[in-house]
Amino acid sequence: MRYISILAVAAGISSASAFADFGARSAEPINDVLLERKSAACPAVWTQVVAELKTMFFDASIGQCNDDARAAIRAAFHDCGTWDKSQGATGGCDGSLIVANEAGIRPENNGLQDISAKLLKLQQKYVAIDAGVTVADMIQVASSVAIVVCPSGPRVTTYVGRKDNSSAAGNPDGRLPSAVASGDSLYALFQAKGFNAVDLAALLGAHSTSRAFGQTSIGIPSGCAQDSSDGVWDVKYYTETTLTNPPAGVCPFPSDVNLANHAIVGKEFKGFVNNQGKWAGKFADAMMRMSLLGVPGGSANLIDCTGVIPKSTSNKRDMKMAPIFSKP
Ligand code: HEM
Ligand SMILES: *[C@@H]1O[C@H](CO)[C@@H](O)[C@H](O)[C@H]1NC(C)=O
Repeated sequence: MRYISILAVAAGISSASAFADFGARSAEPINDVLLERKSAACPAVWTQVVAELKTMFFDASIGQCNDDARAAIRAAFHDCGTWDKSQGATGGCDGSLIVANEAGIRPENNGLQDISAKLLKLQQKYVAIDAGVTVADMIQVASSVAIVVCPSGPRVTTYVGRKDNSSAAGNPDGRLPSAVASGDSLYALFQAKGFNAVDLAALLGAHSTSRAFGQTSIGIPSGCAQDSSDGVWDVKYYTETTLTNPPAGVCPFPSDVNLANHAIVGKEFKGFVNNQGKWAGKFADAMMRMSLLGVPGGSANLIDCTGVIPKSTSNKRDMKMAPIFSKP
């Protein structure tokens, strides 16, 4: 009742243009009320998808996220991250990592073949239930579930409704970062994707859960992690990347070391040392924007499915007790 009367009042006093951006987040409370009424509900199929993904990504024996989770988080970056203003603003979160086999043809995607096959299989299963399930959405939803399944991982605002594109993001290449690139070149690369120094420093923290499997040519043994707690979404990465002698079993990427020492990005990088709360917030914000790269109209044309993503939990006891994680 209350909503209806507010709607009526709003309709009476607002110009047509005030209604033009339904679906976009607005600072005006009146539009938020309208948004609640107007935005489509998250399609039911995603509840099933999310349940399957969290089982896939959670290692119940240690209460941490597993190799599939790490790979899924990286896959989300590598699908969206092809979008680049300086290279024609093509690509983006369009499923082309998988449907155009970018995972097979771009060297930077090495290691993503296995997770790509798994996510494609899931998409094929669920598109039979709901024709709206795209590969592009499957990749982003998988990443959000993977992040939150890692203890202390934040719940990233998560949308669905992206369209798939079977063309690979075009040449010239070099849209995805190299692990031996300089700090300056990486900062420029991320700026061309719309990210500032804080965003980049925050996004790099995804290497808190990372392991390298294909970097032996740069001296990183297969399976070596980028921090000492690679199943947990914590800030040890920010400290350990800058140590002259990292702990045994930790192999920082040269690119991360270069950025940690970069005049501009390094300042932000150091700002996350021992600051889990700050990092979680900045990461979730940047990752949400990452998930919209190249999506026409951005979130205004998508449906908010954040409500079906599990809530963040800080330890494995919580995780096991949370209903979403209860298993027979
Ligand atoms: C300067 C930018 C970056 C560079 C140079 C970089 C490079 C790499 C490399 C070389 C690997 C190891 C791949 C392998 O050999 O298996 C890796 C893994 C990973 N990266 Fe990045 N990355 C960057 C940014 C990001 C961002 C922005 C994210 C996500 C937000 C991300 C998430 C991950 C994850 C989760 C893994 C672990 C994958 C696995 O264990 O299978 N990275 N990255
Ligand atoms: C599909 O992707 C290619 C390469 O990124 C791009 O040029 C083209 O515009 C995209 N098509 C659509 C419909 O977005």
